[in-house]
Amino acid sequence: MGLRNAWVGFFLLCSFCLVTFCEQDGFLSLSCGGRTSLRDSSKILWVPDTTYITSGKTTTISYSDGSSSFNNSARFFPNSGRRKCYRIPANNSTTLVLVRAKFLYKNYDGLRKPPKFSVSVGTAIAITINLAESDPWSEEFLWTVNEDTLIFCLIAIPKGGSPVISSLEIRPLPQGAYTNGMTNFPNKLLRKSYRIDCGHSNESLRYPLDPFDRIWDADRSFTPFHVATGFKIQLSFNKSSPVEEPPVAVLQTGRVLARRNTLTYNLPLDTLGDYYIILYFAGILPVFPSFDIIINGEIVKSNYTIKSSETSALYVTQKGIESLNLTLKSISFYPQINALEVYKMVGIPSATSSTTVSALQVIQQSTGLDLGWQDDPCLPSPWEKIDCEGSLVTSLDLSDINLRSISPTFDDLLDLKILDLHNTSLSGEIQNLDSLHHLEKLNLSFNQLTSIGTDLENLMKLQILDLQNNSLMGVVPDSLGELEDLHLLNLENNKLQGPLPQSLNKETLEIRTSGNLCLTFSTTSCDDASSNPAIEAPQVTIVPQKKHGVHNHLAIILGTVGGATLAFLLMCISVLIYKTKQQYEVSHTSRAEMRIWCAAKVFSYKEIKVATRNFKEVIGRGSFGSVYLGKLPDGKSVAVKVRFDKSQLGADSFINEVNLLSKIRHQNLVTLEGFCHERKHQILVYEYLPGGSLADHLYGTNSQKNSLSWVRRLKIAVDAAKGLDYLHNGSEPRIIHRDIKCSNILLDLDMNAKVCDLGLSKQVTQEDATHVTTVVKGTAGYLDPEYYSTQQLTEKSDVYSFGVVLLELICGREPLTHSGTPDSFNLVLWAKPYLQAGAYEIVDEDIRGSFDPLSMRKAALVAIKSVERDASQRPSIAEVLAELKEAYDIQLRFLDSSQNDN
Ligand SMILES: *[C@@H]1O[C@H](CO)[C@@H](O)[C@H](O)[C@H]1NC(C)=O
Ligand SMILES: *[C@@H]1O[C@H](CO)[C@@H](O)[C@H](O)[C@H]1NC(C)=O
Ligand SMILES: *[C@@H]1O[C@H](CO)[C@@H](O)[C@H](O)[C@H]1NC(C)=O
Ligand SMILES: *[C@@H]1O[C@H](CO)[C@@H](O)[C@H](O)[C@H]1NC(C)=O
Ligand SMILES: *[C@@H]1O[C@H](CO)[C@@H](O)[C@H](O)[C@H]1NC(C)=O
Ligand SMILES: *[C@@H]1O[C@H](CO)[C@@H](O)[C@H](O)[C@H]1NC(C)=O
Ligand SMILES: *[C@@H]1O[C@H](CO)[C@@H](O)[C@H](O)[C@H]1NC(C)=O
Ligand SMILES: *[C@@H]1O[C@H](CO)[C@@H](O)[C@H](O)[C@H]1NC(C)=O
Repeated sequence: MGLRNAWVGFFLLCSFCLVTFCEQDGFLSLSCGGRTSLRDSSKILWVPDTTYITSGKTTTISYSDGSSSFNNSARFFPNSGRRKCYRIPANNSTTLVLVRAKFLYKNYDGLRKPPKFSVSVGTAIAITINLAESDPWSEEFLWTVNEDTLIFCLIAIPKGGSPVISSLEIRPLPQGAYTNGMTNFPNKLLRKSYRIDCGHSNESLRYPLDPFDRIWDADRSFTPFHVATGFKIQLSFNKSSPVEEPPVAVLQTGRVLARRNTLTYNLPLDTLGDYYIILYFAGILPVFPSFDIIINGEIVKSNYTIKSSETSALYVTQKGIESLNLTLKSISFYPQINALEVYKMVGIPSATSSTTVSALQVIQQSTGLDLGWQDDPCLPSPWEKIDCEGSLVTSLDLSDINLRSISPTFDDLLDLKILDLHNTSLSGEIQNLDSLHHLEKLNLSFNQLTSIGTDLENLMKLQILDLQNNSLMGVVPDSLGELEDLHLLNLENNKLQGPLPQSLNKETLEIRTSGNLCLTFSTTSCDDASSNPAIEAPQVTIVPQKKHGVHNHLAIILGTVGGATLAFLLMCISVLIYKTKQQYEVSHTSRAEMRIWCAAKVFSYKEIKVATRNFKEVIGRGSFGSVYLGKLPDGKSVAVKVRFDKSQLGADSFINEVNLLSKIRHQNLVTLEGFCHERKHQILVYEYLPGGSLADHLYGTNSQKNSLSWVRRLKIAVDAAKGLDYLHNGSEPRIIHRDIKCSNILLDLDMNAKVCDLGLSKQVTQEDATHVTTVVKGTAGYLDPEYYSTQQLTEKSDVYSFGVVLLELICGREPLTHSGTPDSFNLVLWAKPYLQAGAYEIVDEDIRGSFDPLSMRKAALVAIKSVERDASQRPSIAEVLAELKEAYDIQLRFLDSSQNDN
């Protein structure tokens, strides 16, 4: 057992190192664009930067500075988008680090155009680098990493050329350093202006003399206005006391003015701003010099005394200065200083609201594209396709991307002023926009929208509304006239009918109406449907899905014809829809026939009322309606699911569902006991599982929450996978569940798991069908992004959702949260890189230390594979089940052996 523990420890340690600074003293030294690792003369290990960045190209820059020549690797970003970032995981969430970056151009591209670009640390833009002014260029920042990732970005400037970087170094600093005399440090970033080893006239000094690898420059070039000699005296002190821990070697030298009574440093600063200054003193002389310290004419400290053998520091902040005149004026003996540091204080702007970030991430996921949206949308510079004011997202342009619907998350983008969704394959009603009260410009043109809906009337700031080239039908709502700021309304090329409401008849509003059936303010001129003929408009091309896509047929047909033939077409379409429906649904409702198809019992509404004691005890609620506890005459407990009126299915669909559910009998699927279909009631009666749902156990409050061990979690996963495997492979027809999630996995008292709620499920009837095209349904956080973007439903969509459940079991957190950092909002995006790297520090605290790493690895790997974006890369549920069984067996053996050892 001891040996096993040691191995576990070793394994954890290794995986930990993968994602953290792991060199000496926590150093991380990246050779940007480098191919190999190497150690420099100070024994510092330099590694290629590929772990931390994926974009950009690499090159080698050769140059010489007179005496010697160098070959430096570099990474550059041609035609770069808005920002290119290094993302470096930090091992400790509040760590002060030094970030040092070097930039080199040396005409490596032969264009003789040194680039100009900005550099950001965290959310703050720290400095603009202009390699035409200085080449090479070096920058140093001190920053408190508040998040779990250190983000360092290069941000292209219009016409500034390709940003280029050659090295990046991260050095942890002493805890608590560089905060004295400064309020509110966590919101400041310090950019180094000077770090001078006073009195030291040779080369700069750094690691290993400074264990934190700060570079202390010799001071000869900084003091043009006085003559003084540097002293170096072997000291009697052995450690410096300031919390910054300046190295003893630095304090051993000092500038002491022997013949005059004032010592002055004149330090030019490159920008106007607030500066943080630290002066270090060490008693290296056998006397106690005292002096006044004057900065830019103001005495900041009078009668400062240095005690022999002691070290001390003075911290000063100066607001709004452009240059620094530091003068020490003698009171007794000679003025003296040993080291000084000067930093510009850069404000760190507050981050974009988590609701906005999370909404944008969901939107990105739904597009199925990698839009490069990572970290904060606005800061340090806005993502592509969006624009910001400060940390508010005010503009979003997703034109030409296949969205298909305006998802509810758009309604969370409360600060939007401009929304451009033209040519995004939208269909149906205009919806999910009613909260966007600041919206000024809305472009929904070149889609297949069919209904104006009611959301637009809430957009009181709207100035421009572009709805041209859709398939909008019906009349233009009167309420649009209430939008007082509206000055352009484009309705061209729709199927709208007149007359236009008089409320729109005002001077300030320009309305474009050509290409509609009959759209004028006049009520009489509408007899002739062809009076307003369709004008030739660019045709939106829809790539038809491989098979039976009702929507697409509809959209293509509507898109290609004028008004006259509409009635005929509508007829054809109805037939088409009807035919398509028939493939999936049975269209009879008579009770007698139900009895023939269904093994399940048919209840009367009266029987249901008695069983539930008049719907007394609610045990669940959902968008579909409520679930009540009931007891059948034979004493059996049941869960009675009653649909709200609004959520009721057509009779066909309900019968279809009952028919489907009643055929399914499997130990890991919740059994349908019966149903009731009377008058307006649609009620399903299920077997009752008293153990609650998996979600209750993982996240429930107080009594429900139950710490599940790893082995239990695996057992639950195996059970649920068996149920799902039966649906996919065991039942005839095959069934896709469509709503796999933790709250749909129920437990009995023995903790056996069963999958429930097949309400959304689809049968795959045709022998050869590989997928079903449907309207996207499911639960946010569990939705297969590929299904979302293509609307093609396959069994792999269930595998994706099940993968999310596995990640929840491993990490003990919900698929979407709004706390923590933006990168952690989405479980899949957050957990994947950690688990891939075998970094199990994200495993649920409740099971940490009690799992066999091999078992965890198996489960983690199959979870990651299941949530692959590309559905074809995902395993089948049968493969998932096999892996989970193995993981379960390994963990069982692990528990056995540890029991035997004890
Ligand atoms: C980060 O981890 C490394 C080793 O893993 C350690 O040396 C370093 O001190 C840690 N940094 C902080 C600030 O905890
Ligand atoms: C730099 O690279 C060139 C070509 O690969 C090589 O000839 C030269 O010796 C290298 N110089 C140094 C200093 O490594
Ligand atoms: C981070 O470092 C500080 C100081 O070294 C320590 O007090 C704190 O516990 C650490 N936090 C974590 C999460 O390791
Ligand atoms: C500075 O360098 C010179 C020659 O390079 C050397 O003679 C001298 O001792 C050095 N001084 C110190 C203080 O290291
Ligand atoms: C050097 O450090 C040791 C232990 O920290 C201390 O006992 C000793 O007094 C120090 N020496 C001087 C000269 O301060
Ligand atoms: C620096 O400040 C001192 C004292 O305030 C003053 O005498 C001196 O002229 C100043 N030097 C410059 C270059 O401004
Ligand atoms: C300066 O301070 C020392 C002790 O800290 C004191 O003895 C001396 O009188 C002070 N000098 C003046 C001019 O205030
Ligand atoms: C619409 O977007 C598609 C890409 O989704 C693009 O290929 C097509 O050219 C766009 N059509 C128009 C009219 O802009």
